[in-house]
Amino acid sequence: MTTLLDVRNLSKRFVSGGGPFRPVRSMHAVNDVSFSVHKGRVVGVVGESGCGKSTLARLILRLIEPSSGDVRFEDLDLLAQAPKPMRALRARMQMVFQDPYSAIDPRYTIRDAVIEPFQVQGVRMTAKEADKKSAELLSMVGLSEHFASSYPHQLSGGQKQRVGIARALALNPALLVLDEPTASLDVSVQAQIISLLEKLRDELSLTYIFISHDLSLVKYFCDEILVMYLGRVVEALPDTEASARHPYTRTLLDSTFDADPKRRRTIEPLAGEVPSPFNLPPGCAFAARCPAATEKCRVEMPVLGSDGGHPVACHHPL
Ligand SMILES: Nc1ncnc2c1ncn2[C@@H]1O[C@H](COP(=O)(O)OP(=O)(O)OP(=O)(O)O)[C@@H](O)[C@H]1O
Ligand code: SF4
Ligand SMILES: [Mg+2]
Repeated sequence: MTTLLDVRNLSKRFVSGGGPFRPVRSMHAVNDVSFSVHKGRVVGVVGESGCGKSTLARLILRLIEPSSGDVRFEDLDLLAQAPKPMRALRARMQMVFQDPYSAIDPRYTIRDAVIEPFQVQGVRMTAKEADKKSAELLSMVGLSEHFASSYPHQLSGGQKQRVGIARALALNPALLVLDEPTASLDVSVQAQIISLLEKLRDELSLTYIFISHDLSLVKYFCDEILVMYLGRVVEALPDTEASARHPYTRTLLDSTFDADPKRRRTIEPLAGEVPSPFNLPPGCAFAARCPAATEKCRVEMPVLGSDGGHPVACHHPL
């Protein structure tokens, strides 16, 4: 299998506060994260709100600079790229957001929205070429070319997300980072978007990183799963059948599973105390919530290791 993306010891530290009444505080939104993504795979990233999923996504695409660590994409050191080659590389890796229109001018027509990525890259096109390209991209995501002259507010949530995907596909990417692309859609529309993404992956040989709160959806859609807790990857499930080895993953699975799909959309806050990311305990960050915690867990931080099974960061894996 060819490695498309390789992330090594990636960290992002945010500093806040300062001034007379607000002491400077710092926290690691992403902490020493390492993983690889092989070409053609769908890698899920799950974890509760605030665990660092979107920060990880932005670091991978170099939309923000890491505090430390490396990202290699298509065998190139991403962090060593000067602005111009970086811009060209960015075409190969695109992001789809939960709300595709948060970043788009509502006065743009759909045609202009889907051809905007070409303008950003400085690709010149005649009006006729742009019409043709926009019709092509809309058809790829299952929208008729009549939508070209519509405005965002005239589209449904699912249609808007299709436009978001069309924009992401415009420059022929190899990797799409999908940050909760279906979280704001209802279940039937969510299913349509997932099947569109499956179809596009096959047709265009795409690789996906799929961020979601919905572990059941991730289990359906992804080939492998990274579980994050307070900035760290605590378990890397190599396939969707693998049983959880980390008590946190186990708890997540128990909390999100419900036979009724309408009731298992999000990870509910779990019981127990979540440590402040600004003041993490010395040992395992999950210890205060973990039924299996021992004294060792409270003093020694477990590192991601794969003794006796797939990678897990736990002193007493299941
Ligand atoms: N620009 C920033 N400055 C300071 N702190 C930040 C910044 N961006 C994110 N954070 C913090 O980093 C942590 C991780 O945030 P992030 O948005 O990556 O989480 P997430 O897993 O995507 O959450 P959600 O599921 O709610 O989208 C949070 O504690 C957040 O408050
Ligand atoms: S290291 Fe200890 S506290 Fe942390 S998840 Fe494993 S058993 Fe629980
Ligand atoms: Mg997020």
